[in-house]
Amino acid sequence: MKVLILPDAAQAVGRVTREIRDLVAQRPDARLGLATGGTMEPVYAALVAGDVDLSRVTTFNLDEYVGLGPDHPQSYRAYMNTRLFGPKNMPAAQTHLPRGDADDPAAEAARYEAAICEGGIDLQLLGLGANGHIGFNEPSSSLGSLTRVKTLTNSTRDANARFFGPGEDVPRYAITMGIATIMQARHVVLLATGAAKADAVAAMIEGPITAICPASILQMHPRATIVVDEAAAARLTLRDYYQTVHPGGAEPPPMGRSVRP
Ligand code: F6R
Repeated sequence: MKVLILPDAAQAVGRVTREIRDLVAQRPDARLGLATGGTMEPVYAALVAGDVDLSRVTTFNLDEYVGLGPDHPQSYRAYMNTRLFGPKNMPAAQTHLPRGDADDPAAEAARYEAAICEGGIDLQLLGLGANGHIGFNEPSSSLGSLTRVKTLTNSTRDANARFFGPGEDVPRYAITMGIATIMQARHVVLLATGAAKADAVAAMIEGPITAICPASILQMHPRATIVVDEAAAARLTLRDYYQTVHPGGAEPPPMGRSVRP
């Protein structure tokens, strides 16, 4: 795992945005895995404000609420259309989310999994739940899971109630990429900011690999970049070590020769 601790949330967002920009500069038709939630809003705002050309990328979002059609204002399709796809003029046919209003959500999940597998994902963006979830893979999710319907925990429904109006129910189920689906991505970039994520960040990076903290499986990923701010890094035991390797989240200087010729 590459653990990058940035001084504040704005710089952590800048670091993640740079990963996306650099990939798309190298590969304009990259396949991106995207996330929603509050943490990602400034990432999309930065991409929209910048000049990165996303017209050729193909995107797959992590998840969608079961029962919400694409026109529902709280659907993740609406979130993405408003914050990124619309402002960046991205062709709709290249942007993918599971259909929350599918008649058969299980079949929709299988269809979505197959679509992802066709070309895989070059860079998967992840947020982190305070309970350690990635996508909507809640604690106790199988570490070998594929895209499927998951029941949301009460803590996730409570955390996401802020996006819904008064009296509006947060859906109970979501279609989410599975943990094994996420692990297939060629590069995963997880962004976590703020003190509310500090326990989950410590469990993910330094705890045991366990289904109780689904994000801990990223310890097994060959290329996982974890970008956090100081507040989210507060509970890391080896914080000084991560800062030594990547001071302020920077790349280490090139290694010199350690043995004289
Ligand atoms: C959303 C998603 C979730 C969020 C996580 C953090 O697509 O996959 O895993 O990334 O719940 O949400 P925020 O950023 O709102 O704290």
